[in-house]
Amino acid sequence: MSERETWATRTGFILAAVGSAVGLGNIWRFPFAVGEGGGAAFLLVYLLFVAIIGFPAILVEFVIGRRTDRNPVGALKDLGHGAWRYIGYLFIITGFVIMSYYSVVAGWFLRYFTLGFTEGYAVDDPEAALGLFGSISTGLDALLFHAIFMAAVLIVVGLGIRQGIELAVKVMVPAIIALLVGLALYAATMDGASAAYSYYLSPDFGVIVDEWQTLLPLAAGQAFFTLSLGMGVMITYASYLGEDRNLSKDGLTIIGFDTGIAILVGFVVFPFIFTAGTDPQQETVGAIFVSLTQAFGEIPAGQILGIIFFGTVAIAALSSAISILEVVVSYLIDEYQQDRVTATAIVGGAIFLLGIPVTQDLIFLDLFDGAVDGILLVLGALLLVLFVGWVIPDAATDELGKGIANLGSSGDVWIWLVRVPIVLVLVVSLALGIVDYVDFLSTDFADWFAAR
Ligand code: PHE
Repeated sequence: MSERETWATRTGFILAAVGSAVGLGNIWRFPFAVGEGGGAAFLLVYLLFVAIIGFPAILVEFVIGRRTDRNPVGALKDLGHGAWRYIGYLFIITGFVIMSYYSVVAGWFLRYFTLGFTEGYAVDDPEAALGLFGSISTGLDALLFHAIFMAAVLIVVGLGIRQGIELAVKVMVPAIIALLVGLALYAATMDGASAAYSYYLSPDFGVIVDEWQTLLPLAAGQAFFTLSLGMGVMITYASYLGEDRNLSKDGLTIIGFDTGIAILVGFVVFPFIFTAGTDPQQETVGAIFVSLTQAFGEIPAGQILGIIFFGTVAIAALSSAISILEVVVSYLIDEYQQDRVTATAIVGGAIFLLGIPVTQDLIFLDLFDGAVDGILLVLGALLLVLFVGWVIPDAATDELGKGIANLGSSGDVWIWLVRVPIVLVLVVSLALGIVDYVDFLSTDFADWFAAR
């Protein structure tokens, strides 16, 4: 077998992980999760989750990947025994499901981006903006742009770790940051900025107390989704590390970037929404498109700003999508000795097909996203922390210690965090997430089905 690829540089690994983390989760999901969770109250709970759960959980994945140098399925077969050996397959399933709708939504952004070069965003009332979203989000347009986006992902992944992913993220991640900072500065000058900031930044603690049952799974799901945790991305990326470096430092850097960018996005999106006078509470998947096109239609230079905004999101989505695909591709390469190009083509084709229903009816978006976020990612993360905390704690601390000059007792602190508090929070989030999802299946989805 040919030699397994590795990252060329440390920065390459960090940028790839940041590129994976920063994506539709930060820009499309985050604002509507904030809206659904009541603004700043959600933000607070989410930040707590990222710090307390996200950091130990990212280390769990890093340690598994670097220890085994294998894809998630192979890694767990290597380290585990009995039923633990099969956890990796869950990640492959999750990867397929996420990628199918992720590509469709990314396609919408791409379509809006191209719109800036042709018609522009001259939709002056909510009806028209909604109509535009309707025509873009389902039907032939959606299918076409889903195909274009998938093709871009396939090219990057097909080119491999160094020539494809590492090179691409070196350009994309700095571009995303620069563009978002520019947009946030512009947004600060808008009329709605101060109302937006107070909505976004002053938490109503009453909401947290009254609505913890919704906030908890929402914030947990968002934290995992945005950090690309719970489906083996960080296992896979860490498996390409050629040398032993300080994983906790890398983890902090990656989480810092992702969280900083999510917060920054709020400083871009909410001033636009408040200035256009739309309701930030409208918690639908199309909210960001509807309110932003309206804003871009009204403000001076809206067309250029729109092009920049939608283009930025499309780039961010691409750098995340390649990580999802890489998990599945690495599995075929490692376990079935496929060559990279064949593996990429097979996986890409299958995912494209799975995404087709989403391009035809938005109910499938809810069906897939709800399953991923409320259940699959949390379940994946839960199984991993149980495994590392209770089955291979010694190997895991040993691995974490490599590249850290003086681990001291922090290895034990980490293992105990992983063993009990994190497990508890995940179990509760998972239970609430399942309840929510069953509720969705028995109401919205059942209604849709009955109406067929
Ligand atoms: N973290 C990515 C985002 O925020 C999405 C993602 C989830 C990527 C899970 C990989 C795995 O858009």
